[in-house]
Amino acid sequence: MTVPAPIVAPSILAADFARLADEVHAVESTADWLHVDVMDNHFVPNLTIGLPVVQSLLAVTTLPFDVHLMIEDPRRWAPSYADAGAYNVTFHAEACDNPVSLAKDLRSAGAKAGLAIDRDTPIEPYLDLLPSFDTLLIMTIKAGFGGQRFIPELLDKVRTARQHADAGHLELRIEVDGGIAADTIEQAAVAGADAFVAGTAVYAAADPAAAVTQLRRLAERAVPPT
Ligand code: DX5
Ligand code: ZN
Repeated sequence: MTVPAPIVAPSILAADFARLADEVHAVESTADWLHVDVMDNHFVPNLTIGLPVVQSLLAVTTLPFDVHLMIEDPRRWAPSYADAGAYNVTFHAEACDNPVSLAKDLRSAGAKAGLAIDRDTPIEPYLDLLPSFDTLLIMTIKAGFGGQRFIPELLDKVRTARQHADAGHLELRIEVDGGIAADTIEQAAVAGADAFVAGTAVYAAADPAAAVTQLRRLAERAVPPT
């Protein structure tokens, strides 16, 4: 089996929102994707940014956007992010009653389709849906806020998803989000994740670009790409 090189996606949730373009440029040389957390104060209690800000940011960088929608009614909004040029659009399983149909729409709009699984949601009911998706985002915290402590027990879901994806030869990135840092990324990689979101670990670092490189090295060391 071939193991792809790991993806590191800095989350701008931990950046200085008054200087967003500069904060994006600060990771441009080393990041694989830019992770953008859209929160609507309904699906999660927090409120962040929406489509106009994402459109403005898309115009200032060539980084692929990994949009993580923590919103109710993703069917209403998700396709617009794909139309705007996001590389990957992820919506939450808990917020959508027909995930496969929305995934299809995202793909026909030219984006990758992602399914997110929050802390308290089991993975098993969604395994059969995975062929319709390009990314599976497994929360390693409760969605809603940055800077929370990583919950290692949630890696069981990553192991289950990895076994399922490998057995079915699925082309699927398994992404982890929440509390990913130098002291947690290796166990997530060993569990089977191959895309890593990091907010605090990147933007609280003195050198955000170097922090991305260090995280990628740790993931590669834990599971060498082949
Ligand atoms: C939280 C967001 C995460 C957040 C992660 O719900 O989905 O992307 O930015 O932040 P850290 O890396 O600080 O846990
Ligand atoms: Zn996120």
